[in-house]
Order: sequence, then C-alpha cells, then structure tokens
Amino acid sequence: MYIRLKDTMIRAVEEAGAILRDYFSTRDFKITQKSMNADLVTEVDKKVQDIVIGILSGEFPDISIVAEEKENKKEATAFYVDPLDGTLNFAHGFPVFSVSIGYWENNEPKIGVVYNPISHEMYWAIDGEGAYLNNMKISVSSTSSLKNALLATGWPYNRDSISLVVEYVKNALNGAQEVRSLGSAALECCYVARGALDGYWEWGLCPWDLAAGVVILKEAGATVTGIEGDEFSLDRGDIVCANPHIHEELLSMLKSGDSR
Ligand code: IPD
Ligand code: CA
Ligand code: CA
Repeated sequence: MYIRLKDTMIRAVEEAGAILRDYFSTRDFKITQKSMNADLVTEVDKKVQDIVIGILSGEFPDISIVAEEKENKKEATAFYVDPLDGTLNFAHGFPVFSVSIGYWENNEPKIGVVYNPISHEMYWAIDGEGAYLNNMKISVSSTSSLKNALLATGWPYNRDSISLVVEYVKNALNGAQEVRSLGSAALECCYVARGALDGYWEWGLCPWDLAAGVVILKEAGATVTGIEGDEFSLDRGDIVCANPHIHEELLSMLKSGDSR
C-alpha cells in the first residue's frame, strides 16, 4: 500500500513539476497577494494544485486532501499538498521552489515526497525505509559542532515576531558558521536531510509546508522538534531540525538571551 501511495505521489509531483517548469520559463502568469506583500499566490499554484488533487483522488478517493489553496477540514489521515512551496521565489524567477506532498496516517508521518522541478531533485521517504534523493539513499551531515554548521531559517509572514526572528538569527550568526534563507521550507528540510545544511529552524508555517519534509528528515536520521525542543506538531507550524550531534546545541544557542 505505501509503495503504491508513494508512486502515485511521485507521479503527481512530476506532472505538477513539468507545468511549473513551463510557466517558470515564460514568467507569464497572474500573481495575487494573500496575507501580506510577501505572501503570494499565482494562477499556476492553483492549476498545479488541481492536477495534484486529480491524480491523488483518482487513485485514492477515500483519503482526504489538505491543500494550501483550498478550504480544508482537519483529518487524522490525509495527503498534505503544497502545490508550489516557494511561490515568491517562483514569481521572481529565483529557481528554488518545490512541489511537496506528505501522507500522514492517524496523525503519524508516513510518506514524504518533495520535488524541485528545475534541478530535477526528487526527495522521498517512507516511514521505516530510509530517505532518498533520486533513488540514492541520503542521510544527515556528520558535523559535530555548531561553530562548523551551515544553518537555514525563514521569515514568518506575520511580522509581529520580527524582533524575535532577528534575535534568533543574531544568536545563530554568533554561534554557527553561517545562516541562509532559501524560501522553500520543504526544500530546506530536504537539504538538512541530505546533509547539505546542518540545521534549519522556522516558525509560522502551515501543515503543507512541513508534512513531507518531516518524513524525509526523520528517515535521513535528523532530530526534529518544535521550537521549544518539544515534540514536533504539524498543527503548530514551528520546527527545529538538525543532525543529532548538534540539535541540542542549536536549540540552546537559538534561545540564548531569548527575550520571550
Ligand atoms: C512559504 C515558504 C517559505 C516560508 C513561508 C512559507 P509558500 O511557502 O515555505 O520558505 O518562509 O513561511 O509560507 O507560501 O511559498 O508556499
Ligand atoms: Ca509553502
Ligand atoms: Ca504554496
């Protein structure tokens, strides 16, 4: 059953990815602002979402689908679809974005598929069976100290917490080697999973941003928690993930001088 689910999810992200690639090269699409001027949706997000939903529900009509550009009802077992993670990058012609589908069963992470259609990177994982990039097994880095760690984070659309965001970045810049921000939460999780990044944190995310990435992270050997070091929760939308050697150190470094 999981193999059939995974294969269908891969087919869906490949079809979606081909459409994203075409539009990305023409740059001819309508863009609309959502909650604020960095939170965008394009006509392509919706077109791609319809295609993904068509493929998933065609094969698995009884599994509910939670997707970014539609109304959703919370279910314990569901596909979580982000048809375009990194819409702002896509709209600017910055080639870092992905299609992300997670499958959670009884509120447990089971399958994750994340595809970058520009670099043709297909990340996938099934619970208990490891994580893969284009069918090569991947695992987290072996960096053992934060001062040699390359980290990433992202900026919540709700700018109310901006001073805390800046404080965490300042702490990270003081304690780690360097901090990036790539603009696709799903891909940032995958980069930690493959060991290209040593750690990543962010808050203010939605279930479709993380549902796939978390499976890939766990299967690649990452430690994944919430921002307080507590158990990761899909509904809360905050994450700290890293290779197991530095996760603890990362958590306490981020919070050093925490003014909350
Ligand atoms: C966004 C990206 C970004 C993160 C935002 C997300 P979207 O997703 O993952 O990296 O910082 O919070 O909303 O809107 O491009 O699907
Ligand atoms: Ca997203
Ligand atoms: Ca999106």
